[in-house]
Amino acid sequence: EQIKKGSYDHFMQKEIHEQPHSLTTTMRGRLKDSGVVLGGLKEHLKTLRRNRRVIFIGCGTSYNAALAARPFVEELTGIPVTMEVASDLLDRQGPIYREDTAVFVSQSGETADTLLALEYALEKGALCVGVTNTVGSTLSRKTHCGIHINAGCEIGVASTKAYTSQIVVMAMIALAIGSDQLSTQPRRESIITGLSSLPSTTNWINNLPCHVSEVLKLDAEMKDLASSLIDSESLLVFGRGYNYATALEGALKVKEVALMHSEGMLAGEMKHGPLALVDENLPIIVIATRDSCFSKQKSVIQQLLSRKGRLIIMCSEGDISAVGPSASCRVIQVPEVADCLQPVINIIPLQLLAYHLTVLRGFDVDQPRNLAKSVTTQ
Ligand code: AGP
Repeated sequence: EQIKKGSYDHFMQKEIHEQPHSLTTTMRGRLKDSGVVLGGLKEHLKTLRRNRRVIFIGCGTSYNAALAARPFVEELTGIPVTMEVASDLLDRQGPIYREDTAVFVSQSGETADTLLALEYALEKGALCVGVTNTVGSTLSRKTHCGIHINAGCEIGVASTKAYTSQIVVMAMIALAIGSDQLSTQPRRESIITGLSSLPSTTNWINNLPCHVSEVLKLDAEMKDLASSLIDSESLLVFGRGYNYATALEGALKVKEVALMHSEGMLAGEMKHGPLALVDENLPIIVIATRDSCFSKQKSVIQQLLSRKGRLIIMCSEGDISAVGPSASCRVIQVPEVADCLQPVINIIPLQLLAYHLTVLRGFDVDQPRNLAKSVTTQ
């Protein structure tokens, strides 16, 4: 086992640091400067474009990855996207139609709730697309078509590298579906350049910096932040827009491995309840990197500061003065990438934070209590 971990102490740590490589393998052979090539969807592109709705279905981290993809799938395809937690879709027996595309996202491809939702969608006649890390899994066998994320084996129960690869695959799916639209061509080109600048070895288009390697350099800073949070009972993470999913996923990581109560929240909902929790003790991470929600997030920060909130602000590099933190705030500066790809970068410091918090609190990193890597029962 130690051999497989190499120089790392835990699989989760190894898998976080593998992301420049895993993202490279996810994109290998698929990213061209003129567009993306996804063999797994080729036969179904016409139906994907014609269908009236995309339904993303998954559980846990895979659901969060789909949520991160929702805004850019809507933007690049013009098709409405709805989100379904697999168990909730089954509980409600929610309506699904023949004109729907149901996209199932699952690292293992064996999650019982997701597979039952797949049976249900197949019965209803939807086009079923799989996004999985496991070749030969039930999900990849039973869906009509799909894309393997090729992130490499993930052993830690907490999903890390699969999450970022899932987002990247869904970005490539959105690019493929939208590739017949002339009006979005410049936007698609900038996203392709952005994708190529994430990891190192796909960085062949313009010799760009490698943003995932850059953000991993925050490791020591995240360890230091973790040591300041070690005794906290709770942690909130506020995000919105592209980074609502980042807030949910960051909080899920902290919850599942560091065994600390943690909630990801939509910042737009803050004043509708969560604001009552704010005091000088409760740590709150606010994600305020550059995108169309930036000015709204700045105002959230001001509202939290005026209530003496204990803030940790995640902002784009060089943006400290623009977000306007007070001296009491901690700041996490991350490299800026194309706005819709920013969730791939922003989750990494939160993965590192969850990892270090777990080690410092003395809990089992790779096998958190009560959890299994793949949940094969309902
Ligand atoms: C992720 O850290 C969790 N272990 C969990 O939420 C997981 O993502 C979920 O059980 C779904 O698994 P899947 O991706 O294999 O379907």
